[in-house]
Amino acid sequence: MNKREIQRARNETRGCEYVTHFNNAGSSLMAAPVADYLYEFLQEEEMRGGYETAASRSMELENFYVRVAELINAKPKEIAFVENATRAWDMIFYSIPLRAGDQIITVRSEYGSNVIAYLHRAKQTGAELVILENNDDGEPDTNQLRKLINKKTKLISMSHIPTGGGLVNPASEIGAIANEYGVPYLLDACQSVGQMSVDVADIGCDFLSATGRKFLRGPRGTGFLYVKQDWIERLEPPLIDQFAANLLDEKTYLLRRDARKFENWERYFAGQAAFGRAIEYAMDFGLPKIQHRIFKMADKLRERLQEIPELEVTDQGRLKCGIVTFRHEALDAATIKSELARRKINVSVSSGSGSRLSFMERGIEAVVRASIHYYNSEEELEHFLSKIRQLVA
Ligand SMILES: Cc1ncc(COP(=O)(O)O)c(C=O)c1O
Repeated sequence: MNKREIQRARNETRGCEYVTHFNNAGSSLMAAPVADYLYEFLQEEEMRGGYETAASRSMELENFYVRVAELINAKPKEIAFVENATRAWDMIFYSIPLRAGDQIITVRSEYGSNVIAYLHRAKQTGAELVILENNDDGEPDTNQLRKLINKKTKLISMSHIPTGGGLVNPASEIGAIANEYGVPYLLDACQSVGQMSVDVADIGCDFLSATGRKFLRGPRGTGFLYVKQDWIERLEPPLIDQFAANLLDEKTYLLRRDARKFENWERYFAGQAAFGRAIEYAMDFGLPKIQHRIFKMADKLRERLQEIPELEVTDQGRLKCGIVTFRHEALDAATIKSELARRKINVSVSSGSGSRLSFMERGIEAVVRASIHYYNSEEELEHFLSKIRQLVA
């Protein structure tokens, strides 16, 4: 991105006037054109009625599917609107038939909610959860994956970028192996869409879930699910309503034949339309440019943080993204976060379930997570570094 584009992004991000926002992996600052669009939609609902607004703006609601499809190189009929990434992911995961002895393969850096769902279904069905361990780079060992796959393997499921670190998992390498062995592949792209180019055909995933509020800068309470065309009719969602299916008589219902069979009837209509706008906004800059800027800024931040005594950058992997995590020998992560908040700098703390399996293995309790977006400036980076240095001095 050039200086003009960065300036445009900052001018169109009103929150930049108030705060240094390095919590984009939590929830980004919405861009003004997206936020204004959302407010107008809600105002129309207030003044004209919700159903009436949805009817008059039906093309804008359809636009959501078109934009998501463009963003990830899919077809609009392969996209469902879901209220968040977890539920989008659940709708697929709980659709996959599992029996005693079946195997689900995931990775060490997997997101906590997903691990809980694996264990939940393992308890219900007698299926087994198998963890693909990391290689020396801290990435899933793809050679090992080939050895783990057998006739009982019913799913390979992985977070593209974990919640608590800068690691970018080798999604395409895993996809190539999943496809070679004919194993369905579910990718949790919650932290990757919006900060890097994500192409479902390149990756070779059968399903992908994501959220609106993080790097895509959409409203909270929005998410999406991608289901590859050949899978749509093969799966029965775990929950269905009269939007997902048509009731024909006392004995029969007919499921929709597109990915919207994984949706609910009632939803956040304004959010769906505004999420479509947020994707348009990102694509206007271009995902390759966005990725380049974010990754470069984050690499610089890591380099500079590493110079600070007693501070350890905890990001793993060969390719690292806009999530920068670190810990300090003397100051705990929660204190660093609250001290930064007092100075109008937003970061978050990664701890607990979210990164449990990875942190347990590495002996980590909690890390500070500073997540950079393209609208963050070099000045903000310097400001952040100087505050960190003061804090730990
Ligand atoms: C890797 C990953 N997957 C899934 C989620 C859940 O997303 P949501 O809160 O939209 O359900 C998160 C949220 O932080 C995440 O980091």
